Amino acid sequence: MCMMRWRRMLLAVALLTASTRGQDSIQCRNSLVEMLRDPNWMHVNNSQTRWCRLRLENTMATCCRIANFADGKGEDCSGCTALCLHQNMITLCNQHFGQACVVRRKPFFKTGAPDVEVHETFCVPQECNNGPDRDALISRYGASFATDRFGWHLDYNEAVLECPSGVIGPIIVTVVVIACILLCIPISIFLFKAPKERGRTLISQEQMQAESMREDDDLRGAGAGGDTLGSSGMQATR
Ligand SMILES: *[C@@H]1O[C@H](CO)[C@@H](O)[C@H](O)[C@H]1NC(C)=O
Repeated sequence: MCMMRWRRMLLAVALLTASTRGQDSIQCRNSLVEMLRDPNWMHVNNSQTRWCRLRLENTMATCCRIANFADGKGEDCSGCTALCLHQNMITLCNQHFGQACVVRRKPFFKTGAPDVEVHETFCVPQECNNGPDRDALISRYGASFATDRFGWHLDYNEAVLECPSGVIGPIIVTVVVIACILLCIPISIFLFKAPKERGRTLISQEQMQAESMREDDDLRGAGAGGDTLGSSGMQATR
């Protein structure tokens, strides 16, 4: 009895460590194979790969003093990053397969240009779009499908998969909405105050008129005073 329990516990521990070590599921493996055989995916992969090859070669030619793309060698390279985010792949992937992510890779890490980096769109099938499967995906792709690739596309050992989190999107939207609402408060206060300000200027115009009328009266009075002064002066000279 006791031995049986121990065995079961050991088995559970083994399963747990296997899952935390990043074992991929059978569903994920199958859907990956299916995707890689899909004619639409193959077509877009072909165009992405050839386009990215040009970009990478061009980037190396500008960022290295001496660049040898064919042998994967470069001297005095700095700031060598080729961006190959392929819109057709992103659209196809998000509509038919799963989520379009980005693989950051150093294709010439071993051959002699370790600073050269390439960022490529990588389609993660829906069945693989979960923590453990995603963690294992690139090493599986790198190991199992190496025969499908060659040259600069061969090495996926230094690759990092980055997927935009599905949680961050809604969070950003919520934050923006809250910020808009908060911004609306001072704006609406301003808008509600504006007519009052106009009313105040109107009143002050009336006041101005009233004041100017009063001033007119004062002037008239002053004129009369002047008259009296003058006459009094006149009177004084007399
Ligand atoms: C993607 O396309 C390239 C270029 O045609 C090809 O060499 C590569 O084998 C393709 N990748 C896969 C996994 O089929």
